Amino acid sequence: MQKTQEQQETCEFPGLAGDPAEVDKWVSKIAKKFEARSQYLIPILQFIQAEAGFLAPDAMRAASQYLKVPASKVYGVASFYAQFYFEPRGKNTVTICRGTACHVRGSARLVDELSKHLGIDAGGTTQDMLITMETVACVGACALAPLVVINGSAHGRQTPTSLKKLADGIRGGSKPIAPKAVPVKDTETKPRPVKKVSKKKTVPKGTAKSAVKKKAVKKKAVKKKAVKKKAKRKPVKKIAKKTKTARKLRRKR
Ligand code: FES
Repeated sequence: MQKTQEQQETCEFPGLAGDPAEVDKWVSKIAKKFEARSQYLIPILQFIQAEAGFLAPDAMRAASQYLKVPASKVYGVASFYAQFYFEPRGKNTVTICRGTACHVRGSARLVDELSKHLGIDAGGTTQDMLITMETVACVGACALAPLVVINGSAHGRQTPTSLKKLADGIRGGSKPIAPKAVPVKDTETKPRPVKKVSKKKTVPKGTAKSAVKKKAVKKKAVKKKAVKKKAKRKPVKKIAKKTKTARKLRRKR
């Protein structure tokens, strides 16, 4: 028997076989919020995740039905983005940074110790659904390495002991501690002392400036001498010239 066009488009794939009643419930929920246009696929997936905490198979099937988009496409888009999860997550998220700076300062040990303490691997969730532990590559606060982010707030310079305490605090119901202001010891970030510069500058003898002054004085003396010499020279006799011109005039006449 041949499949209808709609059946061909909304192809099945393992993991999405679900309860039709649940699918209908999700379809009506989605229809209340969004128009049936394929460009709303990502907002619909975000809506599903906000509602269910993860992308439930029935909800994904509902999105596929409502938008008339193949289920494979819905899954393809959802699996492309890191923001979407296919499994239920814990109430709290503990993210350990494994960037270079944090790795150098012992983030690998933090992961190992917390894994042992909680009984889960990175990416896993505790059985009581309270903590999901994950790793990330550089949060961008390397000065606080090794850094751990708990439910969006940063906890810098962690040790295995302090991290376990934080995790126990979450499990015990207390809220994650707000990040403390960590005093920065690095000398690079400290303001450098400003050197006081005296306004009056005295030029010591023998420096370049005094040598220039001496040269200028010498030049002046040489000039004065030259002027005196000029003044001593005898004035040129102009009488001879006068007589010559007088003679010429006479000849012309
Ligand atoms: S390496 Fe961890 S914050 Fe940058």
